[in-house]
Amino acid sequence: MFRRDLLKDKVVLVTGGGTGIGRNMVDKFGSLGAKIAILGRREEVLEEARKDLNSKGIRSISHKCDVRSPDQIKEAIDYFESEFDHIDVLVNNAAGNFAYPTEKLSAHAVDSILNIVLHGTIYTTLEVGKRWINSGRKGVVLDMVTPYSWTGSAYVVPSAAAKAGVLAVVRSLAVEWAKYGIRHVAIAPGIFPTAATQKNLFPLPGMEDRLKERVPLGRTGKMEEIANLASYLISDEAAFINGEVVTIDGGEWLKGAGEFSDLSVLTDEQWELMRKISTGK
Ligand code: HXC
Repeated sequence: MFRRDLLKDKVVLVTGGGTGIGRNMVDKFGSLGAKIAILGRREEVLEEARKDLNSKGIRSISHKCDVRSPDQIKEAIDYFESEFDHIDVLVNNAAGNFAYPTEKLSAHAVDSILNIVLHGTIYTTLEVGKRWINSGRKGVVLDMVTPYSWTGSAYVVPSAAAKAGVLAVVRSLAVEWAKYGIRHVAIAPGIFPTAATQKNLFPLPGMEDRLKERVPLGRTGKMEEIANLASYLISDEAAFINGEVVTIDGGEWLKGAGEFSDLSVLTDEQWELMRKISTGK
């Protein structure tokens, strides 16, 4: 689908790039010629990712970092710049989430999600963005949001609030920082099962299958589908896309929003009966 040199020599920093969607993205970016910088909380996960990428001929480095800490972010980016000179693309992918009744949440639980998702995204964007602006270098920021950034969602209120905030940051900075040659884009994925989402969002038997029923295309997403979209959005081929969020959910959120979406369960006989009742013939 892509030229093999689509991302040649671009330095792409992916937060949370050691696992899940982030891990799949770095593989794809690397296969298209990018140099990869990963930050994440677990050293052993980072080391494994780095070894695997380097064994595939993909130049990659990593640094342990919790995005809740601006100091750790600064330290990680100092290291990346000392190795790769600069960063071209920032992908804010690190996230935290779990489903739980809101009235049972402690302040600590709320802070935990908001600090990772909203504060972590802003801290990292600021650290990288200020360096771009001060050095006159152009850049791209890709943020991972979700369709419930605009609809909200029961049982994941801190995540919904944080992701709505991230989308607001994308749209705001797309305008404010365009004068520096910095683009902002976002992807809103639906259900893409990962170890973390299975553990925190649909751990009980049958939950994942019930989620699939909500998707008009009848399935969950494939990792390469997000990685392909991300590769395009961060590439120079998408140079005029700024402030946009691309939904990749098989039509799920629109089905949930449409008043008559549930009519897809009707049989031909029921449709005929509906017509007869309505027309009287
Ligand atoms: C209820 C929970 C809980 C759970 C944690 N808590 N998990 N409560 N159900 N499953 C509570 C804890 O009791 C604690 O509150 C507080 O939340 C913080 O938990 P810690 O374990 O101390 O926090 P921490 O170690 O910082 O872990 C952060 C985390 C964790 C978010 C809770 O799950 C994590 O690191 N996840 C990262 C990976 C992840 O979640 N990825 C999914 C992203 S999916 P108290 O008061 O007891 O101290 C996504 C979009 C999905 O973002 C879109 C789908 C369509």
